[in-house]
Formats: sequence, C-alpha cells, structure tokens
Amino acid sequence: MQRTLVKDALNSTEPRDAILLQGWVRTRRDSKTFSFVELNDGSCLKGMQIIVRDTLPDYGAVMHRAGTGASVSVTGRLVASQGAGQKWEVVADAFEVVGEADATYPLQKKGHTPEFLRGIAHLRPRSNLFGAVFRVRSRLAYAIHRFFQERGYFYVHTPIITASDCEGAGEMFRVSALDADRPPRTEEGAVDFSKDFFARQSFLTVSGQLEAEAFACALSNVYTFGPTFRAEDSNTSRHAAEFWMIEPESAFLDLAGNMDLAEAFVKHLIADAREHCAADLEFFGKFVDRELGARLDFVMQRPFQRCSYTEAVGILEKSGRKWEHAVRWGDNLQSEHERFLAEEHFKCPVTVYDYPRELKPFYMRVNDDGKTVRAMDVLVPGIGEIIGGSQREERLDVLRAGMAAHGLSERDYWWYLDLRKYGTAPHSGFGMGFERMLMFVTGVGNIRDVIPFARTPGSAEF
Ligand code: 4AD
Ligand code: MG
Repeated sequence: MQRTLVKDALNSTEPRDAILLQGWVRTRRDSKTFSFVELNDGSCLKGMQIIVRDTLPDYGAVMHRAGTGASVSVTGRLVASQGAGQKWEVVADAFEVVGEADATYPLQKKGHTPEFLRGIAHLRPRSNLFGAVFRVRSRLAYAIHRFFQERGYFYVHTPIITASDCEGAGEMFRVSALDADRPPRTEEGAVDFSKDFFARQSFLTVSGQLEAEAFACALSNVYTFGPTFRAEDSNTSRHAAEFWMIEPESAFLDLAGNMDLAEAFVKHLIADAREHCAADLEFFGKFVDRELGARLDFVMQRPFQRCSYTEAVGILEKSGRKWEHAVRWGDNLQSEHERFLAEEHFKCPVTVYDYPRELKPFYMRVNDDGKTVRAMDVLVPGIGEIIGGSQREERLDVLRAGMAAHGLSERDYWWYLDLRKYGTAPHSGFGMGFERMLMFVTGVGNIRDVIPFARTPGSAEF
C-alpha cells in the first residue's frame, strides 16, 4: 500500500477502507481497551488520531514501545471521528513501531522554550513551532521563485566564493586552502595569497549583487537567491553569519520602480503565506504573536510610506525622544530610529531613500546634490530593515571617482567597470534578507529560530 500523508488524510472527503500512515508519536493516551496515538508526520501542523484496540496482536508489548517520539507505521480504516477536535481518525488494523524513542527523548512534553529547542536543533523540527516555521520557509522560497518567474525574471546562480567585497564593510570569511600553520610568505613576510588555491585572496560572498548586475545588463531582469555570509560580530536577534538573500536586479529601472517592485514583492509573500500556510500562521497568531494577523492585514491593505533620509532625520529630531544614539544628518540610522519610524511614526512599512553618500557602498548612483545616493531601505514594524537596495551608478566616470573615494582598486573591479564601458544602462536592485522576512511573516522574534541550523558568533554546531 502506498503511504498517505497526514495532511492529505485530514483533507479526505470520504472515509477509506485502507490507509497507510507513517510518522512519529506525539502523544499516547491509554484507556482500558484501546490507546489513542497522535501521529504527526510533519506534512501539516495537525496530527492524525489513531485508535489502537487491545485486540491487535501483541498489543501490550507494541504499545510499550510506542512512546513519544517513536516512529510508527500504521494501516487501518479512515473513519469519521466521534470525538471533538478532529474530523477524521484512523482505526488501526496493524500498528508497527519502526524505531523506538526511550524516556531520554528530549521532546517528551510540550511547551519547551525556543532557547531550549535551539540546543537540539536536530530534533526541533519535530515540535509544533518549528515544524510550522520550516513549512512556511519552504513555501515562501517557492513563492519567491513564482513572483519573479511570473514577471519575466531569470534566476541566476551567482558565485558563493568571490574575491570582491560588494558591501565594502570588510566582514568577509576567508576561503583558503593554504596550510594555516605554515603559509607561504612573501619576501616582506606577509602571507602569500598568490600561492593560494585561486591565486588571490578569496572569500565567501556577502552579496550576489555585482554578478547579478552583469546578468541584468544582458538578460534585463534577473534575480539571485542563495546563501550569503557576513563575519560581523553582532550578537543580535536579527543578525546571522550565514543567511539567505533574494536579490533582483533590473535593467532600465530607476529607484522609484525598484521601490514599487520591493513593495509588491513583500505583499506577494505575505498573501502567499496567508493562502497556503493558513493553519501554521494561525498557530503563530495564537502562540507566538497575538498581533500577527492584524499586522499582516494592515500591511497588505495600505501602500508603504516613503520618506527621504533627510526627512527621516527631521522626524526623529522632532520626535522629542531621548535616543541612545544621537540623531545627526550623516550618521547611520540605528535600530531604535528605524523602529521608531516604522512602529510609531508611520505605523507601517516605510521605505527610506536617498541616504548620505558616505554611509553607503561605492556602487550606488550619486544624486545631483552630490551628497546623497539613490539608496533605499525598507523598514518594517517589529524588525527594522528587511530590504536594502539602490539604483546603481551607471556613469563610468562617476563610478570610478566613487571607487577611488572608497579606496577600491580599478584593477580588482575591471569587469564591473566594463559593464559601464560597454552599453551601460540605468539599473536597480535590492536584497531582501530571507530570514528577516520570515520573522516578519511568522512573528518569531529571533533569527536563530527561522533558519534550520543557525550560524552566529561562537555557534556552528550541527
Ligand atoms: O542591506 P544589505 O547589506 O544590502 C546588500 O547586500 C545589497 N548588495 C543588496 C542588493 O542591493 N542587491 O543586505 C540586504 C538585506 C538586509 O536588508 C537584511 O534584510 C539582510 O540582507 N541582512 C541580514 N540578514 C541576516 N543577518 C545579517 N547579518 C544580515 N545582513 C543583511
Ligand atoms: Mg542594508
């Protein structure tokens, strides 16, 4: 017999004489003549209630082995449930324990904290919370591809290993095949990376943007979606050393068009999750964040606010707040400022644009004022920045000057300059942090809890 997933069994429209379910025991309740077993196979939040009668062969011995966490294989009849709380249940004709789980199984009881579950990242997907998180993660990954594919964007696989520091922040993990104990040295005594695997220094990428630009300047509309890495030593609930980023890049698109795309994208992902992960979102609304449903509705219903960096600084100055970090034109907006704008001032997602040139990387298009660049950050309530992007500098001479100002050598970026030398065109793009978007959609407050195996400072177990 072919296995049926619990999700499909629960969606049945009629009883079935024979069904095979396989999964893990969540709970078991024994009564005099039978046991209730809740079988969960991860296909959906809910489990299937199995009724195991004591007339089955070896009932006592089998049930003894069927504790919480054990894997089981059940054949039986799918029948309308007599009890409240479920439409269907299965009366077992055969019940087999495939793999036992003894009393040391750490997920015996419900109600563990996310912190405890982080320590058992290999088992936590078997809990309700993390099962739901990772089903939503999978669905949104699919929705991302759909959103762009349906708009004529091509998926480009940008490299993971790279020699260039796109964001210029120097937060790169080195990739090297040199002997760490005895690396080759130059005459001056420095490590000689020309003898390394790639004959140069190389790193894990912080962003696929530069390579995506090359493809946008050929295929017009592209996106990349893959892992990115940042060796920034910030131990916050919103930073991971390894995270996934979605980066569309569009030729002949200006900053306003880029903002429109970002807004449509965020709304598409929320709508998709609501449609396809309704039960999981309901769970988050009950157990993680009671405001979640209302907040997502609100975000869907309104246009995002837009305000320039200069306006934002004005709003923050006039707020009368005591800030931990002073607000000054030319300084980065801190998390407290971003959250004030989204949560208290605008009370909805806000796109801040035209940031001071000095704050942003070399590739952003310089405005006519000479002081600001065509940057944009999308800030959302509860999290702050989920998207960062810009219109790119397409003018060769201005780009060169910007690179010099950032201390970048033209020799290292010769190919990037070529894109401006041959058939340059205005173009724009952005990067969305996938985990930050997942935090927004689920209400889960820590980035460590929306990525299967988190990589953060001091932690790379599993
Ligand atoms: O703002 P960022 O640094 O922008 C870029 O990397 C551009 N090259 C993107 C582009 O224009 N193609 O990063 C983009 C987004 C941020 O808005 C944030 O959501 C996420 O990536 N992000 C992180 N997420 C988790 N952990 C970190 N350490 C992150 N750093 C950035
Ligand atoms: Mg940013």
